Amino acid sequence: MKWIIKEDYEACCAYAAEQIRAVVAAKPTAKLGLATGGTPVAIYRLLAAWHQAGSVDFSQITTVNLDEYVGLSPDHPQSYHYFMQQHLFSPLQLTPAQTFVPSLDLAKDLSDQAGAVDEATFAGGPPDLQLLGVGQNGHIGFNEPGDTLTASAHLETLAPSTLEANARFFVEGESVPTQAITMGMQGILAAGKILLVACGSAKKQAITALSQDGAVSTHCPVTFLKLHHNVEVVIDQELADCLPQSL
Ligand code: F6R
Repeated sequence: MKWIIKEDYEACCAYAAEQIRAVVAAKPTAKLGLATGGTPVAIYRLLAAWHQAGSVDFSQITTVNLDEYVGLSPDHPQSYHYFMQQHLFSPLQLTPAQTFVPSLDLAKDLSDQAGAVDEATFAGGPPDLQLLGVGQNGHIGFNEPGDTLTASAHLETLAPSTLEANARFFVEGESVPTQAITMGMQGILAAGKILLVACGSAKKQAITALSQDGAVSTHCPVTFLKLHHNVEVVIDQELADCLPQSL
């Protein structure tokens, strides 16, 4: 696992965006696994600026996203469909055929819809690069801590700490969705390269568990990244203390 420490959030995102640019430059048809939430916002802003300036050609990429809330329509401002459209797909002028964001309608067959996520993840090969954020409790995608984790895409009930963290994106009084559909651990770990970005002291517990020893625990899903051979973790100065002296 390669650790990169940068001064602050913006510097972490600049570094991560460069990694994405390098993957696309080496392989214009790259498949990118993408995340939402607060962390990737400045990364996507940079990619959009490079597209606008004509310095990177994103026209042949395909993308697959990690997750989506259950119960929000794609045009809801807090849905991950909407987030991706605003922050990346529109700015990069990607067509719907190039992108896939999971969705789940509880009135329809669950296994079909979860199967569609796995299909999008693996069809034509898994992502060349998977961008990840991490939850305060160590979740990746919305694979929440528990006695077991799930390999394939599935419906997940969000942990109380996730609901609390995500409430910041919703207007007061609006209920935060309690369930999500998420790529499973197999899909995440299948990517050729994993790029995890974490900033701010709230992520201390997760980054400590990831960096301190060789232990892998379902109670901290991010530790499963220790099983992957090509992981880069980009953290800010606030999290640098979490790393053992030996790194
Ligand atoms: C989002 C996702 C989540 C977030 C995580 C961190 O698609 O899969 O795992 O990456 O909850 O969220 P932020 O970046 O808002 O701290």
